[in-house]
Amino acid sequence: MTTKRETWNTHMGMIAAMIGTAIGLGNIWRFPYLCGKYGGATFLVPYVILLFGVAIFAMMCEWVLGRHTKRDPLGAFDKIRFPFGRDIGAWGIIGPFFLYSYYIVITSWVIFFIFASFEGLYFGRDTGEYFCSFLGSKSIFITHFFSVFVTSAILAMGVQKGIERACKIMIPALFVLLIVIAVRSVTLPGALEGVEFYMRPRWEGLFSPETWIAALGQVFFTLSLGMGAMLIYGSYLRDEWGIPMNALCVTLGNTSASILAGFAIFPAAFALGFGDIIGGSESIGLTFFVLPKVFEVMPGGHLFGGLFFILLTFGAVSSAISIQEPAIAWLKDEAGWSRPKSSVFTGIILWFMGIPFILNGFVKGGLGDKLALLSKMDVIIAQLAIPIFGIISIIAVGYFMQDRGFDEMNKNARVRLSKTPLKFWIRAVVPIFVGLLFILSLLKVLEDNHVIPAVLPTFRDMQFNSIGITPMTVFMIIFTALLFWGGFIFATVKVLTIEKDKKRKRDGHKHSG
Ligand code: TRP
Repeated sequence: MTTKRETWNTHMGMIAAMIGTAIGLGNIWRFPYLCGKYGGATFLVPYVILLFGVAIFAMMCEWVLGRHTKRDPLGAFDKIRFPFGRDIGAWGIIGPFFLYSYYIVITSWVIFFIFASFEGLYFGRDTGEYFCSFLGSKSIFITHFFSVFVTSAILAMGVQKGIERACKIMIPALFVLLIVIAVRSVTLPGALEGVEFYMRPRWEGLFSPETWIAALGQVFFTLSLGMGAMLIYGSYLRDEWGIPMNALCVTLGNTSASILAGFAIFPAAFALGFGDIIGGSESIGLTFFVLPKVFEVMPGGHLFGGLFFILLTFGAVSSAISIQEPAIAWLKDEAGWSRPKSSVFTGIILWFMGIPFILNGFVKGGLGDKLALLSKMDVIIAQLAIPIFGIISIIAVGYFMQDRGFDEMNKNARVRLSKTPLKFWIRAVVPIFVGLLFILSLLKVLEDNHVIPAVLPTFRDMQFNSIGITPMTVFMIIFTALLFWGGFIFATVKVLTIEKDKKRKRDGHKHSG
């Protein structure tokens, strides 16, 4: 095999592309919604544990599978002789269709809000009601069609590289704007209650397996795992790039955005009177009625709002194209179709698949009813299918690639993971832990449906008695800020100096040799 596989040209470009696919609606829509639903900081604890204990390893394993085999998911599982490898790998082609079908519907809400913000359509109105009425209007058909059209057109023209390049500006800009919004949100009168909710863990909730399963789904979803996407990206990774530190960079960079989104949304939610909605079935639209209210109370809100939704569109579209791409790549390579033909074909199917979620918006009732189908699909895909495939990647590396896998992970890495604990972690701890979570949540489902008598304590205590900031909250704020934002900056600087070092050495060799 002498054909050289395409790789990213620069290290920074690679990190930007990875963070680009990872950052999207998962950070701004899904994270705050789940975090609210499962009790704010009570959700953050399992989220952080699973992020560093499971998801980052799953990401490294997907990269290892991709880089080692230099194949797509189908070929990769086949090549390492995983039982039913091609069938399992096929999930990397089929799975994304289901994810895309509702992901693009949410993208179309974002696009609608660009116009709604510039035009000031929701200003001075009940934003919850406004959002609800949008879901049952003609406009959603238009923005949905437009969203599918845009991603398919980008892929048909093969210009997704251009989009990725644009994201290098747009995603940092999104960060900056999020900071501005978070500052406005935190300084609203009554915002501290929201900060408390978001940052002070109420330990009781930690015993609920539901919370853990939701967090497990979110850590996989937000890092774009469990769909073969990171596996494909891994196949473009250059051999000289160490996997562990880069995985850490991407993880921290992505999570920084989610944490920030929480600071933009929760304080404002409490200050502006949405506190009761958090946790209920309506909260799936949280981002889309809290942020508009923040723009309303912000000087230059029309402009900020419009700009924010434009930037978020870039995040969502760059993620959506990465979800649509595997099927196109497969049609091109296996069926010999042209890129435009594959794009149009997948686009039409994906457009159809989104229609049920839109029609659901026309039923009578509240937001919870209008989004019932979408939220069910989201649970099935993100909480079940994605983690299962993610764990399969871990098992594939741990049990089928074994030493080849562990060596690939540490190849050319300055910061190496010591092999014995790594092996133990990947082969035993992660599968057992995640398996246990699945069993516990299954028991919970059976218990809720009265199949078995109550075996698990359920605490969903959303009450909190003190208003104002407690020392614990202050501690948690400093802790998360240091961990994610500080850690991200530190890790990125470190990786870049390592690369510079290596380059200097290589150049030195060239000159002396
Ligand atoms: N991570 C993206 C987000 O947070 C969504 C996404 C893009 C994704 N590609 C994926 C999720 C592949 C799972 C698998 O918005």
